[in-house]
Formats: sequence, C-alpha cells, structure tokens
Amino acid sequence: MKLRAGTDKKLTSGWARQTQMVRAGTMRSELGEMSEALFLTSGFSYETAEEAEARFDGRAEGYTYSRQSNPNLTMLETRMALLEGAETGRATATGMAAMTASLLAGLRAGDHVLGARALFGSCRWLLDELLPRYGIETTVIDGTDLDAWKKGVRPNTKVFFLETPANPTLEIIDLKSVADIAHENGAKLVVDNVFATPILQRPMEMGADIVCYSTTKHIDGQGRCLGGMILCDKEWDEEVLFPFYRHTGCAMAPFNAWMMHKSMETLNLRVHAMCDNAEKVAAAVADKLDDVRHPVLDSFKQQNLALSQMDRGGTMVVFELPGGRDQAFKFLNALEVADISNNLGDSRSIATHPWSTTHKAIAEETRLELGITPGLIRFSVGLEDANDLIADILTALDKAEA
Ligand SMILES: Cc1ncc(COP(=O)(O)O)c(C=O)c1O
Repeated sequence: MKLRAGTDKKLTSGWARQTQMVRAGTMRSELGEMSEALFLTSGFSYETAEEAEARFDGRAEGYTYSRQSNPNLTMLETRMALLEGAETGRATATGMAAMTASLLAGLRAGDHVLGARALFGSCRWLLDELLPRYGIETTVIDGTDLDAWKKGVRPNTKVFFLETPANPTLEIIDLKSVADIAHENGAKLVVDNVFATPILQRPMEMGADIVCYSTTKHIDGQGRCLGGMILCDKEWDEEVLFPFYRHTGCAMAPFNAWMMHKSMETLNLRVHAMCDNAEKVAAAVADKLDDVRHPVLDSFKQQNLALSQMDRGGTMVVFELPGGRDQAFKFLNALEVADISNNLGDSRSIATHPWSTTHKAIAEETRLELGITPGLIRFSVGLEDANDLIADILTALDKAEA
C-alpha cells in the first residue's frame, strides 16, 4: 500500500478546494486502482508480535482494529479536515454519534453546557435528557440573543453548543460573536454545521473549536448511508476525543466511509446546483405564501447575518401553511415529484413535516416556542429540474387549499 500525494497535507493544502475534494486523502495500493480500495476488514495482522506491540503502544504507524481506525476512514477524515480547515477529524457511525461524542468525550459530572434552544430534535434530547442523567448541567437559551449567551455562562460552563442555520426554522446564530463569548469564558464552541455544509459555511474560520456533521446528509447526498464527522484540533483529538471514540465504539463503517469519500468528489457541484434550485423554489413559493424562509429572500429577517457567514443561502426552503396540520398533510399527500421523507441534503427533493416527525420528541410547548408549528413544511431541495419542483409544489399548494 503506497500513500499517494493525496495524503500529504503539505501538498494538498496548496490545492484549490475543488481539487482537494476530488483528490485529497487518497491512498492507492501497488495495483494502482483508480477508485479507492474498500478495506472491509475488522482488524489487521502483524508480521511479528513485536510489531503488534509497537502499534498498540503507538510507537509504530499502522492500523490495528477498525473500531479505532481504518484506511477508508482515514481517507474520508483527511479530505473532510482539509475542506473544513481543521487539523484532524474522526468519522462516526451517524451524525448523532458525532454530536454525542463531541459533547460526552470531554464533559464530566458537575460541568455545564450552554446550548442554543433551536436544535435538531435528537440534539435537544441530548441536552434536555441525556447529559443531566450523568450530572452534567445544561441550559438552553435563545441562540440569536448574544446577551443570553453572556448571561447564561456559569463558572463550570465548559461547552457552548449550537446549530446554524437551525433545523427546521433556519434561525441564524452569529458564529463569530458566540465563539468570542465562549472563549472569553474558557469554554469550547461546538457547532452542528449540517444545514450549511462545509461548502457554504466554515465555522472554524469564525472561531468554532469543534465542528460536527451528519454526513448522512449532503456529504453522502444520495440517501444511501448513515455517517457523521467530528472535526477538531490534534491536541483535543488525542487527549479527549480519541480515547472516547476507540473505547465506546462509535466509528463509521469502512463501506460507508468509502462511499462518502467518493461522494465528496461531487459535493461542491451538488450543493451549488441544489442552492440554485432552492433560490428559484423559494422565490416561486414566496409569490404564493406569506411566510416563506430562505436567506436569499429579502423578507428573510436575518438575511445580512446569514449571508455574512454563509457563501450562499443553502439548500433548504421552509414555509408555513396557514391551515396548520391538515393543510400541511394535504400538501404533502399531493406532491408527485418530491418525496415525503425525513432526510435532507439528498439529490432527490424531500418534504418533511417536522411537527409530526423529526421534532416530535420535543415537548409541544417547546416546539411552539421554537416556531415549529403544525403548519410548517421543511423542503430539502434536490437536483431535479427547478421547473418540475416549482410546478409540483404550486400544484400541491393549490390542492391543499381546496
Ligand atoms: C441538524 C442535524 N444534526 C444532526 C442530525 C443527526 O444525523 P444522523 O441522522 O446522521 O444521526 C441531523 C439529522 O437529521 C440533523 O438534521
């Protein structure tokens, strides 16, 4: 197995991002395969017992067991870290495994986490239910209110946790200001960057310490595999994350890593084409409904902030149907091109009713406080022709009105 130029950080960091996404991280065997080999192996063997001992001690380079690492994971992690501008990364089995590990790895009973209240349902569950079980205090605040971050800090606050744009309301949080507040108080900022993707927003450039993804979304982008990624600095990885990762078994499966690594070759093209479509869809739906959200729309309340920290407005369009759940269900049932599903970032457009699915685990009162109403539709715009999507949505809206 030869390590190709694609793993040499010195060389690859001089490449343009598009070239990195196609070539960085690649390892090629002596056979010279064009598409990377798939290392579908649970463990690795050693020439000698001394070599096994040395690899376990960390004195010798090399793989030991795929719960700890595997060449397919290394390839994906290298490519993702370069794209994010991070020193290193760890691929996890799911996005939720990434979020959970990024929090639990470094926290102890008695610590405090300050989180934005607008989080993906399972992330809210981590803060509201899981961490307190282990004696970790948590508070959630309105993440758009910088004073609330300042006032929410306690002497034992170790982590700030947020998501921007938020799923599903597209609420935007000022990354740079929140990172500054976290650092002034000795806390780390962990950002769930799923909605923005590393193509449109790089939170580390604005001060985030740890950035997490559900790679299930745009990074696979074709609805095939689950996965997650934690990007961070080497010191935190070695001292905090890796011991947790290897002992708790949250690693990504090699097959999924192989798939995602390959998908990254088209990530930039897909995300930009989806943004083109999303902008057209948002404009067309805004002609029909009062409450339509996408950062390119002038009616989007946080447009300036969104576009100051994101390269483009993203691939999600959110709208409110005034007739509540009944109208939302009629609309969903009338769609003929887009699917009713709960994934996002897929090449196929997906319409979701967060109230009854992805965010149902959050208490009703909290959902309403977050703006997740029974009439809210989250539309993940895919790669179909924009005119077909617009016709599908407008026809379904007409049917839902009848
Ligand atoms: C913002 C956000 N974070 C985390 C996750 C969890 O990812 P996964 O489903 O890969 O565990 C999701 C999934 O929908 C999400 O939308």
